[in-house]
Amino acid sequence: MTSRGRTAAKLEHLQESWIREMTRIALDCGAVNLSQGYPDFDPPREVREAAAKAVLEGPNQYAVTWGLAELREAITANLKRRYAPHFDWLDADLHITITCGVTEGIVAALMAVADPGDEVIIIEPAHENYTPAVHFAGATPVYMPLLPPDYALDAERLRAAVTPRSKAVILNTPHNPSGRVLTRDELQAVADICIENDLVAVTDEIYDRILYDGREHIPLATLPEMAGRTITVGGLSKTFSITGWRLGFFVAQEPWATGTRTIHDFTTICAPTPLQAAGVVAYSLGEDFYARQLEDYHERRDLMMEILSQTGFTAVNTPEGAYYVMAGYEEWNYPGESNDFAVWLAKEVGVAVVGGSHFYNTPGLGQREVRFAFAKKLDTLEQARDRLLKGLETRR
Ligand SMILES: Cc1ncc(COP(=O)(O)O)c(C=O)c1O
Repeated sequence: MTSRGRTAAKLEHLQESWIREMTRIALDCGAVNLSQGYPDFDPPREVREAAAKAVLEGPNQYAVTWGLAELREAITANLKRRYAPHFDWLDADLHITITCGVTEGIVAALMAVADPGDEVIIIEPAHENYTPAVHFAGATPVYMPLLPPDYALDAERLRAAVTPRSKAVILNTPHNPSGRVLTRDELQAVADICIENDLVAVTDEIYDRILYDGREHIPLATLPEMAGRTITVGGLSKTFSITGWRLGFFVAQEPWATGTRTIHDFTTICAPTPLQAAGVVAYSLGEDFYARQLEDYHERRDLMMEILSQTGFTAVNTPEGAYYVMAGYEEWNYPGESNDFAVWLAKEVGVAVVGGSHFYNTPGLGQREVRFAFAKKLDTLEQARDRLLKGLETRR
């Protein structure tokens, strides 16, 4: 006999990730997968070798809950060096915790910060994981859009989204899916609003090593008076092309440091220990690794932009960071909205992308554009070009 029970009410707001659904569709129909944001090339060899060695020789048991000391120390040293004199306060024993990816970091941060009745402002378009994280905390998401084509942050609009119930704001830069990198002035506007209204900022900085055309990443926590009210969430997934390893971290002062650690402790105990050991080797890679990687990403971005312009897509903007671009599909003469188009494109043309509407909750936004992820081999992008050119022919 089946149970007559029902699942928790919070699930009524949630559905499975469409980004990951598009990957399943791509696998089913053999499409070139430009939907989910993961590389189809290998992580650095020395990092893979370190993981193999750690599995063979240990450590293989639980790490201390907040992460392997060597990895916390490596990330701490990295942040202090990169952003000196900011993060001088950061003590690897107290303020940093290794998580199972940024995904867990965001959930832990929100569960530690927000209560039922609180509101959390999500700046959108946004990574699909933020809304579920707010619901897991029992709080209410409030959406504040960045509007195409420039996706600039409108400070007055953000200020207007704040209410007496607002507790936190989630911010992502470099930004998925728009490729925007927020300027210092835009970040200062966010900081001012957080300070004026006593909000906590939860920042997703997973693309902090992928910025184009000489731009430099600015962590919100380095702005005046922000270190104590920011939970900085970062990750290894994108920087070292190890999305399957599930390694991320958060950095925060008290009371957020202990609060987030407590949630992390009872949800996962710790991130995979041997992979944390290999993470130490990843952080020992020198600046030449990042420079070479960035050159490769410039090449991929430029090729992606060229392909879009040749295959009937109109890029909304040129990505300034991360590895995504939103593009309109007017020339394809497809009447449906973006999700239908994305599924059709995967099945009929053999290229998988993600419908733009999945990144918004504000009705009407993202319905006529799709997101391309270009962290792919140049060959993969070329294959996509061939298929898109053939597909477009059939629509003219
Ligand atoms: C903005 C953003 N945050 C978080 C994630 C997931 O990160 P992780 O693999 O560290 O959980 C992604 C993955 O695409 C992302 O684009």
